[in-house]
Amino acid sequence: MRKQIAAANWKMNLTLKQGEELLDAIMSKPHSLKENQQAVFAVPFPYLAMAQQKLAGKTNVFVAAQNCYSKKSGAYTGEVSVEMLQSLGIQFVVLGHSERREYFTESNQLLADKLNICLGYSITPIFCCGEPLHIREANTQNEYVTRQLEESLYHLTAAQVQKIVIAYEPIWAIGTGKTASSAQAQEMHAYIRQQLAGKYGQAIADSVPILYGGSVKASNAVELFTQPDVDGGLVGGASLIAEEFVAIINALK
Ligand code: 13P
Repeated sequence: MRKQIAAANWKMNLTLKQGEELLDAIMSKPHSLKENQQAVFAVPFPYLAMAQQKLAGKTNVFVAAQNCYSKKSGAYTGEVSVEMLQSLGIQFVVLGHSERREYFTESNQLLADKLNICLGYSITPIFCCGEPLHIREANTQNEYVTRQLEESLYHLTAAQVQKIVIAYEPIWAIGTGKTASSAQAQEMHAYIRQQLAGKYGQAIADSVPILYGGSVKASNAVELFTQPDVDGGLVGGASLIAEEFVAIINALK
């Protein structure tokens, strides 16, 4: 059965103490993760070790980095390698978030390299894709997302693609309070799955979790997550509020 994932993306928020308190608050509330369901916390780099320690031994709960570098090691001041993440026991990395694409000019080609290095270390990439507002308004979002997939993913083997998670994040719905309607989310998720099926076959496409990101909240999570091709969410703002994120975890179908 395909995995369902509630992933928190803290972005560049919270002090260490606030992060500790948030994880404690979330873990102290009742949450039900079935066998095929996971909660993932993408925390800032300096908090990875703290989060790993706090969440150690919790079933189906994982820590993610929000980025990594595309090279193995070396003179890349300020960057963080996949080997470093692996040495901390980190199992997930968010790649290609729209904020990294926009503010740090991450290209589809660079992301292809980052995917390669993550897969080489058995770290699961949560690969983000999604269109900006002007593309949605021109109704060319399918072509736009297809290109992101083609240029970053399509060099991967079927076995590798089975190891990734995709997050569809329409940029116009990120941090804006605007959510794609559940029908818009389902339509794009089904489209992405259909593209994967065309390239890798239906069985592979059916095995890849596709998360929705963009103003997911406790109040809309059930409706979004009950769409057949929406396998959970990548959550920004609402993941910083314990009650909200616990409700989002519990909204996994
Ligand atoms: P918001 O949930 O704050 O819209 O952010 C979405 C996002 O970018 C998650 O990665």
